[in-house]
Amino acid sequence: MKKIIFSLLLTMGAIHTASAVEGDADAGKAKAAVCGACHGATGLNPNPSYPDLAGQHAAYIVKQLSDFKSGARTDMMMAPMATNLSDQDMADLAAFFSIQERASEKPAASTDSSATAAAPATATAEIVTSTPAKALYAGDVKAGQEKSAMCVSCHGTDGNSPIAMYPKLAGQSASYISKQLADFKSGERSDPIMAGMVAALSEQDMNDLGAYFAVQTPTAGQAKGSDVGHKLYFGGDANKGITACVACHGVKGKGMAQASFPALAGQNADYLKKQIANFRDGSRGNDRNNMMRNIAIKLSDSDIDELVNYMSSLK
Ligand code: HEC
Ligand code: HEC
Ligand code: HEC
Repeated sequence: MKKIIFSLLLTMGAIHTASAVEGDADAGKAKAAVCGACHGATGLNPNPSYPDLAGQHAAYIVKQLSDFKSGARTDMMMAPMATNLSDQDMADLAAFFSIQERASEKPAASTDSSATAAAPATATAEIVTSTPAKALYAGDVKAGQEKSAMCVSCHGTDGNSPIAMYPKLAGQSASYISKQLADFKSGERSDPIMAGMVAALSEQDMNDLGAYFAVQTPTAGQAKGSDVGHKLYFGGDANKGITACVACHGVKGKGMAQASFPALAGQNADYLKKQIANFRDGSRGNDRNNMMRNIAIKLSDSDIDELVNYMSSLK
């Protein structure tokens, strides 16, 4: 009997795989950029809170992603990740992660080779947990400083915008800044002021500007802090389906440079409030996979006030 059930399962598995969409590992690699923040660039992260995906069976990955999407498997971090993935996206991601080498398969014999092999995962973990914005940037700080002359009237000489409606850029991750500049240029994020500022910027300009502002030191925020905001930030709200902000914006609100998740610590409160409201009403929609929109839509006005008070007080 056991045998029959087993072969039945196998057959079902075979049918399922045959009818499934075929994955493309190269396409998957590009789509996996956002997963790297938690799972590591190649699906290996020594942080015990996150499962390794490297070398996992593709069919299993696809099934988990569909379950996170349908809600059959619930996880506050993975739900917003999976919700906007198409069948093709899932197949591509699975194809990519399934061909990565597993950590445990490395020969333990030579310390040399295991040290090299562990290097990428360790580097990822460091970025995820400590993220100084200076960690990675494609641009040139000096060149960025020259190009920032036209930004200072609103964002301040060192990226600490004196006006509460204008975001501080000091200490923000370079990759996030260049993404925003590109989004303002393509129109994916719309703002009449910034649209004019970025029209003439090249990709190199954007990277240089990102690098310059990333290495500036942010000033402390003016907010007093909030216990309610603190609790929501770290714990989310399971009843309302609000994912804890800490998952993506980090313990100290420094974001995750590698995934272009922004730093929020010390940011001007009025600016933060406007952005969450924009994600909530959909007027800002440049977040990949609806990551922020899906969360913002569940926040009440008072949730937002408390969160903003807390985030802006972070140092
Ligand atoms: C913010 C952190 C975070 C990001 C970003 C993230 N994940 Fe996850 N992922 C998790 C956590 C935490 C779990 C474990 C969930 C649980 O405990 O059930 C998980 C579980 C999974 C699993 C199930 C693994 C298993 O062995 O059952 C898959 C597959 C997966 N993630 C794929 C992805 C893909 C693909 C992406 C990018 C599109 C992604 N994840 C982005 C945090 C993240
Ligand atoms: C006339 C004022 C003004 C000038 C000059 C200006 N900005 Fe902005 N910038 C803004 C405003 C206002 C916003 C917020 C837009 C919104 O509400 O979405 C913004 C947003 C941004 C953001 C998004 C920040 C985030 O946290 O998401 C970046 C990055 C940025 N500006 C970079 C620049 C750079 C680089 C320059 C110079 C090339 C520049 N800005 C010049 C007013 C200005
Ligand atoms: C699953 C990951 C994820 C979670 C969880 C998350 N965020 Fe975000 N958040 C993002 C990403 C990604 C962006 C930037 C989107 C873009 O423009 O590329 C963002 C942007 C923001 C911004 C705008 C920052 C700026 O400089 O413009 C604010 C404010 C924000 N998030 C607040 C929150 C709050 C509050 C929570 C918790 C209730 C939260 N986020 C939870 C991923 C997340």
